[in-house]
Amino acid sequence: MVAVAWSAGAAQKPCKAPKTLKVLAIGNSFSADAVEQNLWEIAKADGCTMVIGNLYGGCTLEKHWENARSDASAYSYRKVVNGKKTTIPDYALSQALKDEKWDVVTLQQQSLRAGQIESFEPGLPELLAYVRARVPKKTKIVFHRTWAYENDYVGKGFELFDRKSGKMFEAVTATTKRVCEKYGISTVIPSAATIQNLRRSEILANVCRDGFHLNLIGRYAVALTWYETLTGRNVVGNAFNPPHIEPWMKETAQLAAHAAVLDPDKAQPVGPKAHKAQNDESTVPPYILPNPLVMADGTPVTTPEQWFSVRRPEILKIFTEQVFGKSPAPRSDMRFEQVESSDSALGGIARRKQVKVYLGKNDKYCLNLLIYLPRQAEGPVPMFAGINFQGNWAVNPDPEILMPDKGQLKRYAIVPTLERGAQSRRWPLEQILSAGYGLLTFYRGDTDPDFHDGWLNGIAALGFKKGQTWPEPDEWGTISQWAWSLSRAMDYMETDPDIDAERVAVIGHSRLGKTSLWAGAQDERFALVISNCSGAGGSALSRRMQGEVLVDLNHHFPHWFCENFHAYSNREAELPVDQHELMALIAPRPLYIASASGDLWADPKGEFTSALEASKVYEFLGIPGLQIQEWPAAGHPSLEGHVAYHMREGKHDILSYDWGNYIRFADKFLK
Ligand code: GCU
Repeated sequence: MVAVAWSAGAAQKPCKAPKTLKVLAIGNSFSADAVEQNLWEIAKADGCTMVIGNLYGGCTLEKHWENARSDASAYSYRKVVNGKKTTIPDYALSQALKDEKWDVVTLQQQSLRAGQIESFEPGLPELLAYVRARVPKKTKIVFHRTWAYENDYVGKGFELFDRKSGKMFEAVTATTKRVCEKYGISTVIPSAATIQNLRRSEILANVCRDGFHLNLIGRYAVALTWYETLTGRNVVGNAFNPPHIEPWMKETAQLAAHAAVLDPDKAQPVGPKAHKAQNDESTVPPYILPNPLVMADGTPVTTPEQWFSVRRPEILKIFTEQVFGKSPAPRSDMRFEQVESSDSALGGIARRKQVKVYLGKNDKYCLNLLIYLPRQAEGPVPMFAGINFQGNWAVNPDPEILMPDKGQLKRYAIVPTLERGAQSRRWPLEQILSAGYGLLTFYRGDTDPDFHDGWLNGIAALGFKKGQTWPEPDEWGTISQWAWSLSRAMDYMETDPDIDAERVAVIGHSRLGKTSLWAGAQDERFALVISNCSGAGGSALSRRMQGEVLVDLNHHFPHWFCENFHAYSNREAELPVDQHELMALIAPRPLYIASASGDLWADPKGEFTSALEASKVYEFLGIPGLQIQEWPAAGHPSLEGHVAYHMREGKHDILSYDWGNYIRFADKFLK
């Protein structure tokens, strides 16, 4: 790529800046993601100074041209000088062009149109001529090649590319290449390739905050791309540490940007390789589990009283501060609103209610509860309560289940499916209702969109103090936010005369099974806890190092646990707790752990061993724990004690077989 202010090359000595590099972007929110943060700091860390302007306004090139022609004050002009950003509203392109002696002016097309050749004319040629006539001769005009959307982006227009990130990337790359050749633009900033490289890295899952705008890591990587393209300076090793970006993310972003500059038209995997999962007993390292029945000062717990008043709080504190993160107290302005109900649902076997739980003053923080009750029940019923993965509408084909409105969709940012009943196999309602139980569920996206969006879309802010934008290292991650939401659903259940809030089993599958354990551990109102295929960070022992391990959790899902937990990646032995102690927090209440034989990622044997270890606390309290000592074969549930376990034949899932056992177990305690 062409070096504008400094010679090309990869010298890593601090840059001797001959002058300040002045860059003006004529763009929109995509150029805002690229230049309004990080870029100035990246340059500074390399010994360079920049002045950065971003004209935020017109979206398409045609619109920019229209703005130019009419000299419209259509822009918000953001400028970064000496690391400080200022914003001037109602600014015109002509003003910005003469505001500085720009070394570089960049143009870009609206992100969807960037893949459509016909969208560049009229617009680009006229705008080019307009800019050239107003800037010094040596000013370089550069094209910013914007990135493709995330695969699960739900908004309009993406169907042009079959809703596929890879396809959009190819279209944008091919189109903008042709256009730049045609109009003699010799430098392209390949942000598109950087983002695609990140997506292809083995350890980085998300780069967007809402399906198309970038999250922190995406923004940082694109800023690196700008810097390396415009200066020829290799960004690998750049010393600037952007906030909340861990070293492995930083390294991956730098490699992605550098590879993109070298190879702008191609997407390629970069960065550290993912850890290779093991499932082989011979590879289990020797380990010593922390003993739940020995207090932090080394004295053994000798009475149940000591367990409840000293040891249990000690363990709970460690899980709170080192693993899942602290949650706020419920707010006094929380309120409930029943928005729909029916006395005869699901062909007459059920009553249905749909209830909004407003978590704070602001209506946008809201859980949408879907509740089914057995129609024939007399008096308040026992319940299963759990979060669903794909939306209430996916739980059952029932046409009366409310679909998300526009506001909800915006907050969810990505929605896995809008197909009614898509996940009904996981929620066998007839089976549950005919056994005399009700079901309460809500969508995980009501709480958090479940990707690393920089805490912009979910309820994280409910835990923030004034001015705070990110959880402290010991404050809540997404799993704590989900668990907290389950407790808020419990608050509702306590007010509903049709529900017996003292007989509620909290249930969850997979990441939501990690969540049901954490909800049950903290909130003793849950009378029974069920964790299905919850694996690492849930029911599987971390110290066995089988299947998914902590580094996988923290790399793929950096938002799930609190920041303190990230320090234990590859340092399982130093973790002051292990997952059997999470289960022990639930004692003496009944607990059910389940695995699937094919779910090796979740380490079924580790899930069983954990339950067995937790049983020691139950036994200590005089309550029968798990009644088997050996890991059973699939299809042989052990339901006799207060700790139950089964392994189902088959894959990572929650199916009618699992529910059948949960109901049998619940019948012993909740009926
Ligand atoms: C991934 C993740 C698991 C998690 C699962 C799920 O597989 O690695 O930890 O339990 O997703 O929630 O489905």
